[in-house]
Amino acid sequence: MKEFKRYTITTALPYANGPIHIGHLAGVYVPADIYVRYLRKTGRDVLFIGGSDEHGVPITIKARQQNVSPQDIVDKYHGIIKKSFEDLGISFDVYSRTSMPLHHETASAFFTRLHSEGKLAQMESEQYYDEEAKQFLADRYITGTCPHCGYEKAYGDQCEKCGTSLSANDLIEPRSALSGNVPVKKATSHWFLPLDQYEGWLKEWILDGHKDWKANVYGQCKSWIDQGLHPRAVTRDLDWGVKVPLADSEGKVLYVWFDAPIGYISATRDWAQQNGKNWEEYWKSDDSRLIHFIGKDNIVFHCIIFPAMLKAEGSYILPDNVPANEFLNLEGDKISTSRNWAVWLHEYLEDFPGKQDVLRYVLTANAPETKDNDFTWKDFQARNNNELAAIFGNFVNRAMVLTHKYFEGKVPASTQAADLDGILKEIVSLKEKITHSLEQFRFREALAFFMDIARLGNKYLTDKEPWKVFKTDPEQVKGILNNVLQISANMAILSEIFLPKTADKLKKMLNLGETSWESIGKVMLSEGTVLNQSELLFEKIEDADIQKQLDKLEKSKQENKAAAMSSEPIKPNITFDDFSKIDLRVGTILEAEKVAKTKKLMKLSVDMGFEVRTIVSGVAEFFEPDQLMGKKVVVVVNLGKREIKGVESNGMILYAENADGTLMMVNPFNEAMNGGLVK
Ligand code: MF3
Ligand code: ZN
Repeated sequence: MKEFKRYTITTALPYANGPIHIGHLAGVYVPADIYVRYLRKTGRDVLFIGGSDEHGVPITIKARQQNVSPQDIVDKYHGIIKKSFEDLGISFDVYSRTSMPLHHETASAFFTRLHSEGKLAQMESEQYYDEEAKQFLADRYITGTCPHCGYEKAYGDQCEKCGTSLSANDLIEPRSALSGNVPVKKATSHWFLPLDQYEGWLKEWILDGHKDWKANVYGQCKSWIDQGLHPRAVTRDLDWGVKVPLADSEGKVLYVWFDAPIGYISATRDWAQQNGKNWEEYWKSDDSRLIHFIGKDNIVFHCIIFPAMLKAEGSYILPDNVPANEFLNLEGDKISTSRNWAVWLHEYLEDFPGKQDVLRYVLTANAPETKDNDFTWKDFQARNNNELAAIFGNFVNRAMVLTHKYFEGKVPASTQAADLDGILKEIVSLKEKITHSLEQFRFREALAFFMDIARLGNKYLTDKEPWKVFKTDPEQVKGILNNVLQISANMAILSEIFLPKTADKLKKMLNLGETSWESIGKVMLSEGTVLNQSELLFEKIEDADIQKQLDKLEKSKQENKAAAMSSEPIKPNITFDDFSKIDLRVGTILEAEKVAKTKKLMKLSVDMGFEVRTIVSGVAEFFEPDQLMGKKVVVVVNLGKREIKGVESNGMILYAENADGTLMMVNPFNEAMNGGLVK
């Protein structure tokens, strides 16, 4: 394999229109951070780049909804995002942002160079235009009926009901989200990157040249390329973004997916300016290795479009790998910002103080590396309690406590050299496996090998039973404990990559200074080293803490349903005559019993004043028979008779529906007379 002199590691720039959630972390930032920490530990020159993506239509929409400027929105979320990454310990060298002037300059210059070298094509097209708002409408700004499922509130870029991606032209009865008016088609001119011209090159570069990419990434690239590539517009009619740096382009900006990846370059310049470095080394030197960490929805942009841009520009290196992950779901449902179905990083950090590494561990152990995975709070708890606490934490704790108990907290002499030899060999072999997995971007596998070291340590302690041996052979116990302390020290150094806060804690406990990667698999603690007090590395997480999180999620589920319901459109008007056709009366339920062999049905006899009727109601899931008996109800009496599961039902009782679909009674006052008209 080629040896690189430098590593340029980028992470997808999150949109600054919402906070970071566990899906972002598991997909992109945690694996990237592990990789970067590994590179640094092995002495590589690394630049770890992050930043906020602050342009694009969703940000303008959010600003409009909240009646503030787009800059206000991105300022707010950039702050929240940056701080939460810091608190989690994502070790960016730079966390930049695309609204900064240096980025506008960099993106403009990039565009200008492509333009002046004739690498962009200008083309006219017809776009929807809102004559009242006097502006062209981005797809997101148009709503209408989905041609696939008939949903009436589909967006011009996607139907959120059936998930189909759309273009505004597909919508039936389109409306402007700005004014509610019917938009008109108007000609506009844009600049395009002729991707079709790069098809041959992309085939060669990716399909022949990068068979080493992850199967999910390679597969997606192949399918895009096989379907044939078309010119892509790189400008938009919008007033938020990097202005198109050409005459006569008032009201036009660079498309967010054109400027955002250039954000990696601006971030590098930002960092270089502040640290007296040469940014070009990281982007224009063949011995620099560019790697993009992203989620699967970003693959086409990072594997096809951005490389084509870089290729067109001509002076940049291309990504050597793009280890994209699939998606992480939450409790069986897709994570969604708009539905508030997420575990937000800043909230997690508040709810679980000091437990950054638990989240890193769980998200790595369950990372969606090859397929979508599910995060559940039960699994989070189990992995903390049964793996981190029971295996790693417990091992270290036993080593520490026994050393304090028998040897006044000083590392005892090494008397069990043969055991130690075997142990160190196993650690060396696991270190090699970890290295190999990390180089292949297989982080969950690497983490499992790391935990194997703790398993090995636990087994050694259990086999040797120093607490029993001490009475008869304290010399032997010295060696046993020396050995388990060496294992702990080795784990401390490896933890720097996976669990950095834990590494700090453990190194402090062991009084272990800066220790190199090369020392892994060797003796790290010398005899007589004074250990510090032992602290638990991981506490058990109680059911109550998990329940709180589940309740939080349940609450957002309810709020969503309520929102969906209260926005149910009011039915079209009817005439008074229509209404008078319905004969509504007061009745009293005399008897109630569940209909045999059904889950939902209840057979009721209802005193209607003029007669007693049998009515079958679909309410058995919500009420017990004795909750219904004696209650006044409102009945539609002129619906005609109907047979339901062998019972003849004559009439319909009215109920009120809640957001979660449960039914409540609609009760007239007791004074209301049976048979009385409801009008
Ligand atoms: N903001 C985009 C997203 O969240 C990612 C942009 S990555 C960049 O999907 F490279 F283009 F910045
Ligand atoms: Zn649809």
